[in-house]
Amino acid sequence: MDRPIIGREIIRLDSIDSTNTYLMSLAANGAQEGLVVIADRQTAGRGRRGRSFQSTGGLGLYMSVLVRPNLPAIDVPELTAWTAVAVCDGIEAACGKRPKVKWINDLIADRRKLGGILTELALNPDGTLSHVVVGIGINLSHRREDFDPELRDMATSVSLWLGQDFDRDTLTRCIIAALDEMYRSFPHDRQKYLSQYRADCVTLGQNVRVLSPDGATPAVAEGIDDHFRLQVRYEDGSVAALNAGEVSVRGMWDYV
Ligand code: BTN
Repeated sequence: MDRPIIGREIIRLDSIDSTNTYLMSLAANGAQEGLVVIADRQTAGRGRRGRSFQSTGGLGLYMSVLVRPNLPAIDVPELTAWTAVAVCDGIEAACGKRPKVKWINDLIADRRKLGGILTELALNPDGTLSHVVVGIGINLSHRREDFDPELRDMATSVSLWLGQDFDRDTLTRCIIAALDEMYRSFPHDRQKYLSQYRADCVTLGQNVRVLSPDGATPAVAEGIDDHFRLQVRYEDGSVAALNAGEVSVRGMWDYV
């Protein structure tokens, strides 16, 4: 078997502000592709749109992965979607159950948020892509009361979902293996990851609000195009394909 790319080196930390922030600084200083940083706890875990990600010590899996793909920066959101499929693959291999995905980066179980993915990039002076850090946070051993009060009705954990505790090292190993398989397939195995993403995505068929500087426009999510963009239909019948960052999904369920 080929030597792994993702996870060829792993740094394990007790505590850090954010594994993404830390790995971005290592990457800027020349760290090798495939380096993984895992922390037991984050004091300033971050999510998309400037949100925080609750990262209580010992309860979750908080990890970041450094890659240096040959890709236009504009295509980086696709890597978030590929990663979502890989994380679902890893969780399924470890636990025997497959979570769902809320476009583009949220992992869902029992209609609640099980975890999320935060992809960050750095450019070279000439505007080409230098590196990408993909951060993955999974709620693992939380009981309901371990979540901050405002998250209790929106979040779940692997333990709550499975009805039993699950070993963090096994889960970590399976997710890293799935990420490695994904990255080796990237980007030539697009059809496989696209069709799995479409099958995993719970956003399809839902009402969404498309955010723009003018406000929020209601639409229905109808599909995922070949670039993992969300295809929506507005109330006037017009259609659009949206990149991550342009759309916020309005909840129809408890959370999703
Ligand atoms: C989201 O929910 O919007 C994404 C959450 C991503 C959280 C992970 S935890 C490891 C890595 N470090 C961070 O600060 N964030 C990501």
